Amino acid sequence: MKHFLHLKDIPAKDLRKILIDAKKRKQKRAKLNTLESDKDAPLKGKMLIQMFEKSSLRTRLSFYLAIKQLGGSTLTLRSDELHLSKGGESIEDTAKILSNFGNAFMLRTDSDKKLEEFKKHLSIPIINGLSPSSHPTQILSDVFTVEEIKKKPISKLNITWIGDSNNVLNSLIAASIKFSFKLNIGCPKNYQPNKKILSYIKSNKNKIFIYNDSKKAVTGADVIFSDKVISMNDKVNKIKKLNHFKKFKIDKKLINFAKKNFIFLHCLPRGKEVDEKVFESKNSKVWQQALNRVHVQKSILLYCFNKLR
Ligand code: CP
Ligand code: NVA
Repeated sequence: MKHFLHLKDIPAKDLRKILIDAKKRKQKRAKLNTLESDKDAPLKGKMLIQMFEKSSLRTRLSFYLAIKQLGGSTLTLRSDELHLSKGGESIEDTAKILSNFGNAFMLRTDSDKKLEEFKKHLSIPIINGLSPSSHPTQILSDVFTVEEIKKKPISKLNITWIGDSNNVLNSLIAASIKFSFKLNIGCPKNYQPNKKILSYIKSNKNKIFIYNDSKKAVTGADVIFSDKVISMNDKVNKIKKLNHFKKFKIDKKLINFAKKNFIFLHCLPRGKEVDEKVFESKNSKVWQQALNRVHVQKSILLYCFNKLR
């Protein structure tokens, strides 16, 4: 059994294996309907328990379909309905019950410590479905989408991030190190990655560059990534922060600095960081990006169950 908490802690060769498996599985089930399971149904009889402490649309739906297509099923818990969040029950006891009833646990949480605590007490795999420090299932799936569209290894492409230094960017930074791709980060000076992330970048052979000028960051980009300026539970003065990002809007003028055939990706939900015209343009691949979460998460589940082919 394996856990899937942060990309930085997972060997690069395992991440690549997950992507190879996802590609094969996606191709194999091209003619099947959404709810039909893959022919081999490798997780038949298994139950994934999902729990959300924060809102979710895509992660919820894609894990539901992922386990279903592998032959298993999901149970989704609302954290506010458990004894755990009401203070009456410990993580340890909750984890024991989850381990006895289910076969894997997916948690979206506001606390990285909680992920670690659960990991300590669970005897089933835990998957991070977004935490303050990372969003690993999203970014691994996004690497898949980039390679699927561009038809080349991501290491041969120029990737740009325009936006806040948040959980999604942290995972993109880890992916850049694991898959060895060039990553330009464009963000205002006061919103650069924190010291811990900067030292992680420094201590790994990397191709990561930080610009406080959006045009410089986008120059020559094959892929432009973005995310909301204000993340869930971001305890900041929202008006002030949005103001600081004014020069980092992804609009028609800015995309002129990218390669002609660049693609635009966004994990969604979106705010005002991207212009409607760019979002709706043919360069924008956000819907394909969202759907691919199903395919990659299936292979993540198989990795956790030690069942990758
Ligand atoms: N991108 C993403 O994780 O979306 P949700 O918050 O809707 O799950
Ligand atoms: N950075 C965003 C991602 C949402 C999928 C957040 O944490 O709210």
